[in-house]
Parts: sequence; C-alpha cells; structure tokens
Amino acid sequence: MHVGIVGATGQVGSVMREILIEREFPIESIRFFASERSAGRKIGFQGDDIVVENATTANWDGLDIVLFSAGGGLSRELAPTVASSGAIVIDNSSAWRMDDDVPLVVPEVNSHALKEIPKGIVANPNCTTMVAMPVLKPLHAEAGLEKLIISTYQATSGAGLSGVEELSKQIDEAGNSAIDLTHNGSAVAFSNGNSFIEPIAFNVIPFCGALIDDELEETNEERKLRDESRKILEIPDLAVSATCVRVPVYTGHSLAISASFSSPISASKVRTILKEVPSVILEDIPTPLKSAGVDPTYVGRIRPDTVLANGISLFLSGDNLRKGAALNAVQIAEALNSET
Ligand SMILES: NC(=O)c1ccc[n+]([C@@H]2O[C@H](COP(=O)([O-])OP(=O)(O)OC[C@H]3O[C@@H](n4cnc5c(N)ncnc54)[C@H](OP(=O)(O)O)[C@@H]3O)[C@@H](O)[C@H]2O)c1
Repeated sequence: MHVGIVGATGQVGSVMREILIEREFPIESIRFFASERSAGRKIGFQGDDIVVENATTANWDGLDIVLFSAGGGLSRELAPTVASSGAIVIDNSSAWRMDDDVPLVVPEVNSHALKEIPKGIVANPNCTTMVAMPVLKPLHAEAGLEKLIISTYQATSGAGLSGVEELSKQIDEAGNSAIDLTHNGSAVAFSNGNSFIEPIAFNVIPFCGALIDDELEETNEERKLRDESRKILEIPDLAVSATCVRVPVYTGHSLAISASFSSPISASKVRTILKEVPSVILEDIPTPLKSAGVDPTYVGRIRPDTVLANGISLFLSGDNLRKGAALNAVQIAEALNSET
C-alpha cells in the first residue's frame, strides 16, 4: 500500500512508524507529513531517508491510506481533502469520532463498522477509552453492561510531547527537594507549562482536557469516555460517570472501573472470560510501567462491587501511545487491507 503519516514527527507518529515496521505492514511507498516547522527534515525508514513534507501544501495523489496524528484542527481542515483524493484517512484526533458517517473502530471490538466508510474517514478512539474497550466488550457480551463508574489515571504523554517535557522539567526543578516537598507543597516554585493547569510533578490533577460549558460541568475527556464507549460498544444508553485525572507518569493510562451488568457475573467468570482475550493480560497488580511499550491491556484487582447491581470492579493499564493510538490505527489499516 501507499501510506502517509500526518504528524510523523510527533510522539504518536513516531510510534506509528515503529509499529508499521514491527508488524510488517505491506508498504509499497511511504510519505511523512508535519507542519512547516519540520518540513525538509529527514527521517530514516527501513534504510531510506524520507523527507518530511509540509502537510498544508502537500499533494495527496496516489496514497491508499493516510494515518493522521496531528491534532483535531488539522484533521477537521485536511482530512476531507485527503479523502477526496482517494485515500482512506485513519484519524487519531477527536475531530470526527462522533460523526454518524465516520466509523469509530477498535478492530477486535467492532471491525464490522468498517463496512461503511461514507466520508473516507475512519476514527481512532480516544486513548483512555481505547484501553477499556477490549476488556468491556466480552463482559458486555456475557452479562449486558449497563453502567460504568470510572476514575482515570492518565499519563503525561497523553498530552503530547509537551506534556512529557513539562513533567521532566518539573522533576528537574524539584532536584533534591523531596524532603521539603513532603512537608510543604509549595517548597518548589515549579515553572508553569502549557499542558497542565497545576504542577504535574509529585502531584495528581483531577482535570484532563478542557471544561465543557454545560450543566454537567465535566471535561471533554470525561465526555469522550461516555460518548465513545456508547458508540464503540453499541450501547446508546450506557450510563457512564467519569473523573479523569492526570498523574505524573510518562506513558500508560490506567482506569479504575466499577461496572454494573443486567445479569449476575462473578469475579471468577470475568477472569475466565478475559483469559481468552488475546489483547488482554491478567495481572495481579496492573501498572502503567508494565504496560508502557507493549501492546496488551493489563487487567487486575478484579472483584465484586457490592454497591452496584451485579457489580464488578477492576483496574486496567494500557499504553496510550501504542494500543491507545498508533497500534490501533495500524490495526485498522490492516483490517482495511485484508478487505481489499
Ligand atoms: N498522545 C496520546 O496518548 C494520544 C493518544 C491518542 C490520540 N492522540 C492524538 O494524536 C495527535 C498527536 O498526538 P501526539 O501526542 O503525537 O502529539 P505531539 O507529539 O505533540 O505531535 C504532534 C504532531 O503533529 C504535527 N503538527 C502539529 N501541528 C501541525 C500542523 N498545523 N500541520 C501539520 N502538522 C502539525 C507536529 O509536527 P511538527 O513536528 O512540525 O510540530 C507533530 O508531528 C493528537 O491529535 C492527539 O489528540 C494522542
């Protein structure tokens, strides 16, 4: 296939490049795109130096699949143009996910949604939602999912390279002040970054994304968890209550989930079901560090939730840059390729 990556110089774009090679995606030619800032830079790919092109002035002819990972604004603007040139766009941003004419796909969960691609655009889910989908789908098939109460623990790389740099810089600024910070939260004057609204080093921030201006007073990350779970799992009335929290972790999003089902399901049944899911690993103590750099979602702390009807609680960790973004996008491309 003739493949393009828009945002090839970013975190997700670089993992996409790695994963295309790792999975031996059938590539006849590849082109990399980014902003004017990176245009002209050379990036090695399987022995060739590929010159990064400016996405806003590029010619899109001749491409079969274009993976977009350069923010919602650019996707909204550019994806229709790229699709009209004949390529299928697989978009990592939030721009198209809730469009009725755009399938939102996790291949092992709802690949049937790829049968109709009216706009030539397929959306990749939000990285936090994605971690949970391969786990919740088989449990829904068994017992009928009705309600989710979720707290997230989201890594700084979920906010782009700038999020990672902000954490790293603030850790450096703290230097040897750990003892001082133990007694006085203001002991270090952390510099302000653009990614997080409070210092992220040695802290947790119960605010991810941006506030939506309505009576629910939730953030767009919390809204995405509800809307995207409903669309992917095809449960339009799924009740979802989420609190999204940023934590000082570089990579690996985690979710503490309490789920309520229409029929009884035991913790041991949940373990038996999840043991058979190839993209899930059962782990006594799942952590983001274990999940960083690998493909499966780690699931553990599976136990009855006695507060909810037919309730189960569990904890998940998954790599937000791999399955949460780049891997899923490449798996969508593989699914499309196998249909052609
Ligand atoms: N990080 C995650 O966990 C995650 C997960 C799922 C989805 N996503 C989505 O994936 C996208 C990228 O995330 P990231 O973490 O890789 O961000 P990132 O590291 O900041 O990289 C951003 C990329 O977009 C390019 N870009 C920015 N503005 C552009 C423009 N106007 N025209 C062309 N290219 C432009 C940048 O190119 P330059 O080198 O030229 O600046 C860079 O390649 C975002 O939409 C994000 O929401 C991220």
